[in-house]
Amino acid sequence: MTSTGPDRTLPPSTSRGADVPSPDELKALVGRAALDHVVRGEIVGVGTGSTVNKFIDALATIKHEIRGAVSSSVTSTERLRALGIPVFDSNEVDELAVYIDGADEIDGQGFMVKGGGAALTREKIVAAQSRRFVCIADASKRVETLGAFPLPVEVIPMAARRIMRQFAALGGIAQVREQDGVALVTDNGQHIIDVTGLKIADPLAFETEVSQWPGVVTVGVFAHQKADVCLLGTAAGVQTLHFD
Ligand code: A5P
Repeated sequence: MTSTGPDRTLPPSTSRGADVPSPDELKALVGRAALDHVVRGEIVGVGTGSTVNKFIDALATIKHEIRGAVSSSVTSTERLRALGIPVFDSNEVDELAVYIDGADEIDGQGFMVKGGGAALTREKIVAAQSRRFVCIADASKRVETLGAFPLPVEVIPMAARRIMRQFAALGGIAQVREQDGVALVTDNGQHIIDVTGLKIADPLAFETEVSQWPGVVTVGVFAHQKADVCLLGTAAGVQTLHFD
């Protein structure tokens, strides 16, 4: 990993004072910084989450310079369309120059945990059709080892209990994510389990193994679809991390 920056700084006055920007301000900062990575005249891949919402708002300011977006969730699609940005189906596009998305954790190699917003499957699909993954995140997301954030895994509901037992055998504690007292249903009609207690020392091997368990739709480790660049929002500004 090589690092440059801070190369873009916060406005002098923030809601918490000059040197303690709020997470929201850091998200807005990296959301705007991501515009530098959008290839003009092309279609951009767009992720999901509160940081990406800031990016979408910034993207609207250059919407006449791009053809549109491929979106990773119903929520992002609605936000893009509300701002007048055309949304293409992923099957209409062979390859995207760049995919811009947030992360729940990112390590020093660009490996990530994602899926806190339950959109991990479509996120991985759009990332896979993109030449470059630009991660936008506030500094709290940068970790040494993945696993402190509960690992999201999208599963076919009838396989949930067996998959939870498989995680227990690895030392993890899994539970089905709920919303309003019932199991959350993803954009793909499936469920999410969140797994705590894991220390993911080898993200590539972990992703490869868990992805093959019957009933797993997508595991929230993004190692095969890792970030190429991370724009990290810090109190001093945007730090740019480059991964080999
Ligand atoms: C959505 O499913 C996730 O992968 C998000 O990219 C991730 O949870 C980061 O979200 P925030 O930007 O809201 O922290």
